[in-house]
Amino acid sequence: MTETVIPIFDLRDHRYRSMTPSIPETLLEPSGLVADTRARPLHDLRISVTDRCNFRCVYCMPKEVFDKDYTFLPHSELLSFEEIERTARLFVSLGVEKIRLTGGEPLLRKNIEKLVEMLARIETASGKPLDLTLTTNASLLARKAQSLRDAGLSRVSVSLDAMDDATFRRMNDVDFAVADVLHGIETAQAVGLAPIKVNMVVKRGTNDAEIVPMARHFRGSGIIVRYIEFMDVGASNHWQMDEVLPSTEVVRRIDEVFPLEPVQANYAGETAERWRYRDGSGEIGVISSVTHAFCGDCSRIRLSTEGRLYLCLFATEGYDLRALLRGGYSDLQVSNAIAQVWQGRTDNYSEQRSNPAVRQARAERKIEMSYIGG
Ligand code: GTP
Ligand code: 5AD
Ligand code: SF4
Ligand code: SF4
Repeated sequence: MTETVIPIFDLRDHRYRSMTPSIPETLLEPSGLVADTRARPLHDLRISVTDRCNFRCVYCMPKEVFDKDYTFLPHSELLSFEEIERTARLFVSLGVEKIRLTGGEPLLRKNIEKLVEMLARIETASGKPLDLTLTTNASLLARKAQSLRDAGLSRVSVSLDAMDDATFRRMNDVDFAVADVLHGIETAQAVGLAPIKVNMVVKRGTNDAEIVPMARHFRGSGIIVRYIEFMDVGASNHWQMDEVLPSTEVVRRIDEVFPLEPVQANYAGETAERWRYRDGSGEIGVISSVTHAFCGDCSRIRLSTEGRLYLCLFATEGYDLRALLRGGYSDLQVSNAIAQVWQGRTDNYSEQRSNPAVRQARAERKIEMSYIGG
C-alpha cells in the first residue's frame, strides 16, 4: 500500500489520510463471495453522495464545528455518477446485494434521481434486483418521492428524533418542523416507497421523553421506528456515555405501554434487533451499537463522496478507490483490489469501545457521520 497525501485540506482533517489499494498480481474472476479475516461476507454498500446537509443535528453536525468556515468537499472532488455506477457494479460482482445512498443529505445532490435510475438497473450476482434504499432527513422528500420511485428506488429510511416540535427543532438546530418531515413520510408512503423506516437517535435527557410518543404515533401505520443509541462517531459531537440510553431501557419503556415480543432477524448482520407489538400493530427496532455491539456479522462497506472506501463507521483511514477508477485499470483489476482490501479487514470498533486506550487512540481522527453517511 502506498500512502497518498492530498495537500488541499487542513492537517487535522480526517480526509487527509488514505492508502491506495494495490492491484493483486493474480487476478481472479469475482465469484460473488468474498470474506474478511473474521469470515464476514460483503453484503451492504453505503454510498455517500454529498457531505453537505441542510440540518445541523446536534449529534452529527454541531453548528459550532460545521459553521460557515467549514470546508466541505469541492465539487471537483466528487465521483461522477458514471464512476459511482461502475463502482456499484464491481461491488455487486463481489456479493453486494443492498445499496444505501447516504450523505450528508443525499437529496441535496443534483439529479440524484438519475443516479438512482442507473443503480436500479443493476442485478445482484444471483440475478435478483438490488435492495436500493436511501437515508434522508425528508426535507426534500415530498418534492422528490414520486420521481425517486419512478427511477427505481425501493424504499427510504427517514431521520426523525421527536414528535414534539420544540424538541425536534432543537435537535435539528435549523428550526425544521416535525409536520414537514411527516408530510415527506406520507408522500413516500403514498407513492409506495415501502417499508419506510424512521430512525430516531436517542439522547438521554434530550429526547428520551419522546420514545413512547414516537411509538404511539407510528404503530399501526406500517412504518417501522428504529431507536438508535447515541454513538461516538466522528470527533465533534461531544459524545458522553451518560447521554446513551441503553436499548433495553427503550424496550422496557415501550413495553410498559404497548406490550412487545421479540422477532427473529431478517438477515445475519442486521443492525436492528426487531420487536413487535403483541396486539399486531406492527414492529419497532433497536440499534444498540454501544451496549450490544453487532460487529460480529458486520457486512457493511462505505464509499465516500470523493471515492474513498471505509471498512468501518469508526475508521480513521480510507482506501483511495478513486485513484484506481481514474488510473486506467480494468474492472477485473479494480474488483480484485477491492476484494483484497476486504479480505484484510479486521474492524470491530464497537466491540472495543469500552477500552479507553482504543477510544483515546482514535478520539481526534474518526471520520464524521456527515462525511460517510449513517
Ligand atoms: P435496513 O436495511 O433498513 O435494516 O437498515 P440498516 O440496517 O442499513 O440501517 P440504517 O442504514 O438505517 O442504519 C440505522 C443507523 O444504524 C445508522 O444511522 C447508524 O446510526 C447505525 N448503523 C448503521 N450501520 C452501522 C454500523 O455498521 N455500525 C454501527 N456501529 N452503527 C451502524
Ligand atoms: N449516533 C447514532 N446515529 C447517528 N446518526 C448520525 N449521527 C449519529 C450518532 N452520533 C445517524 C442517524 C441519522 C443518520 C443519518 O445517521 O440515524 O438518521
Ligand atoms: Fe444531516 Fe442526517 Fe447528520 Fe442530521 S443526521 S445533520 S440530517 S446528515
Ligand atoms: Fe461494522 Fe465498525 Fe459498526 Fe462494528 S463498529 S458494526 S465493524 S461499522
